[in-house]
Amino acid sequence: MRLLVTGGAGYVGGVCAKVLLESGHEVVVVDDLSTGNADGVPLGARFVEGDIAEVAPRLLAAETFDGVLHFAAMSLVGESVEQPEKYWHGNVVKTLTLLEAMRAAGVGRLVFSSTAAVYGEPQRVPITEEEPTRPTNPYGASKLAIDHAITSYAVAHGLAATSLRYFNVAGAYAGLGENRVVETHLIPLVLQVAAGYRKSISIFGTDWPTADGTAVRDYIHIRDLALAHLLALNTAEAGTHRLFNLGSGAGFSVREVISACRRVTGLPIPTVEAPRRPGDPATLIASSARAVAELGWQPEHTDLDEIVADAWEYLRGLGSRAHAAQQ
Ligand code: UFG
Repeated sequence: MRLLVTGGAGYVGGVCAKVLLESGHEVVVVDDLSTGNADGVPLGARFVEGDIAEVAPRLLAAETFDGVLHFAAMSLVGESVEQPEKYWHGNVVKTLTLLEAMRAAGVGRLVFSSTAAVYGEPQRVPITEEEPTRPTNPYGASKLAIDHAITSYAVAHGLAATSLRYFNVAGAYAGLGENRVVETHLIPLVLQVAAGYRKSISIFGTDWPTADGTAVRDYIHIRDLALAHLLALNTAEAGTHRLFNLGSGAGFSVREVISACRRVTGLPIPTVEAPRRPGDPATLIASSARAVAELGWQPEHTDLDEIVADAWEYLRGLGSRAHAAQQ
């Protein structure tokens, strides 16, 4: 297939573009590099730099595409609370423009990056797709609004759409990993401490109602996540909007993640106990049973140490490239 990938210079979009290329698809990436990095666009993809709301409609009108994978988004929970307008405009308004451009061009296949943040504080764990959607921040609310828009486009205009609700994506694949300008995610931050780029890692909350008092999350390897996009694309049906949660199905606490990072790196990682981060739920664990049953998806890299090891290898590669560039 000939595919348009928005946000393909970012972590998730870049790895997914890589996996699509490896499966024989042709990929055109559109990214404004506001949070992504041109180095994150995999070799073999054509890269068009620019705002998705301007560039994607132009490309869709001028060229032939079989589908769109839509990753471009603002995704910082804290920032979304302080600057919601950025999220309503950058996520919702721009996606509506993209949907209209797809409709005008007759492109009917869509895979959308949704998020566990649409569920907010869950009533039941593991979280299935039947869980009530009550996002606790504008980021999650903006993604949920898009999910609703996509459903109505599928019903009214025959879109063949899939929303994939990611839990905590981590690890690296094929030289592509987490390399954000502003990093807020646990695993890359802990590894930056191990690498000596930061002094310590703050543990946000040690009084959560969990076994060791720290928050529990479901970490999914980026390659497993990317493979689900491929399956979603191949099995899409016109007039249908499917929703799938994607996680490994196992929960690890912040302390367990830090221990895994110590095991993998063999380095001491100093910690500092800090207050809870506003908006954080205690425990988020996915039920991916629907994705397993309906997509035939099976996560292969569920071992936390393996996920951390891949992230560590990537970070060390970044460090040595930066060092070489200074020589
Ligand atoms: N954490 C720390 N210290 C840090 C950073 C994170 O203790 O320095 C904790 C967080 O409080 C949380 C856990 O580590 O309990 C994981 O935090 P991340 O920031 O790595 O990930 P989140 O679970 O907050 O975020 C993920 C996705 C978001 C999505 C959210 C849904 O990255 O896109 O799940 O709640 F919105």
